[in-house]
Amino acid sequence: MEKKKRILTGERPTGRLHIGHYVGSLENRIKLQNEYETFIIVADVQALTTHFEKPEILRNAVCDVVIDNISTGIDPKKSTFFVQSMIPQIAELTVFYSMLVTVNSLRHNPTIKTEATQYGYKDMTYGFLGYPVSQAADITFCKADLVPVGEDQVPHIEAARKIVRRFNALYKPVLIEPEILLGNCPRLMGLDGNAKMGKSLNNCIYLSDSEEDVNIKVRSAVTDPNRITLKDKGNPDVCVVYAYHKVFNTKECKNISELCKNAGIGCVACKKNLESVLNVFLSPIREKRMQLEEKQDYIKDILMTGTEKVKGIAKQTLDEVREAMSIKYF
Ligand code: TRP
Repeated sequence: MEKKKRILTGERPTGRLHIGHYVGSLENRIKLQNEYETFIIVADVQALTTHFEKPEILRNAVCDVVIDNISTGIDPKKSTFFVQSMIPQIAELTVFYSMLVTVNSLRHNPTIKTEATQYGYKDMTYGFLGYPVSQAADITFCKADLVPVGEDQVPHIEAARKIVRRFNALYKPVLIEPEILLGNCPRLMGLDGNAKMGKSLNNCIYLSDSEEDVNIKVRSAVTDPNRITLKDKGNPDVCVVYAYHKVFNTKECKNISELCKNAGIGCVACKKNLESVLNVFLSPIREKRMQLEEKQDYIKDILMTGTEKVKGIAKQTLDEVREAMSIKYF
């Protein structure tokens, strides 16, 4: 039997996941978990780069992230979850890779720049600036072929590809250069019109939000600022509500766009429509989530078993890496 190709993807456990995560990455990994051997990293070390002063947040979020993945359709029998900090080989690999990456290339990484501004960092810690190097270790220790992610992750995957090429050329070709797979909607805007929906931006609809939360949030979403009365013709291209219709209401979105442009539908009705579409989508996820929340032991077991399995793979790769670098002495 031909060996299945591998996927590695995951998230930082800094809170619950939102609909931007779904359309950026989750949807793809759910679809591909049958075809690929799938690994999902709970990147707690990476989460520490921004949350090192409040690590207790990570503690709860570790299980939340797994629950969000499973309730949207990840099958823990097919996909392997693991905790980043429990795989010491990732840390070792990060150190080896750090020789192959210049500080300037990290400083110019657009996602690092955006996040540094977002978090208000005047001066960056070494760990934060260097997290793309650690992410390259996440991806390559298990020799992943494919990484399904949102658009903000593109610079990191490119950095990982560069590290792999450098390593393979310099030492021995033992690493796999990963391909990137962008989601159906690689970047979903925030409720406030910010280019990105993000936990730290406070502009998210969470997969776990109640029906009421969703309704309140959609009502607060930014629409065309030039459309003041019902009679004004709207511009759907500058409207957050329309951006969500395009992704979650593909059947009606064309019609909605026409109606908006001709003042045939008001923002209130348009938002009501979106609320119900989102709630239809989220309702089964919420239900599954509620069941899983009662089964914390089951979630912990999934993480423990997955982490054990991954340790074997990590040891094997590190063995090959040391040998390739000729630092395997005994
Ligand atoms: N940087 C990703 C995020 O912020 C999380 C992550 C860590 C990741 N390691 C990864 C994603 C490896 C894909 C592959 O969501």
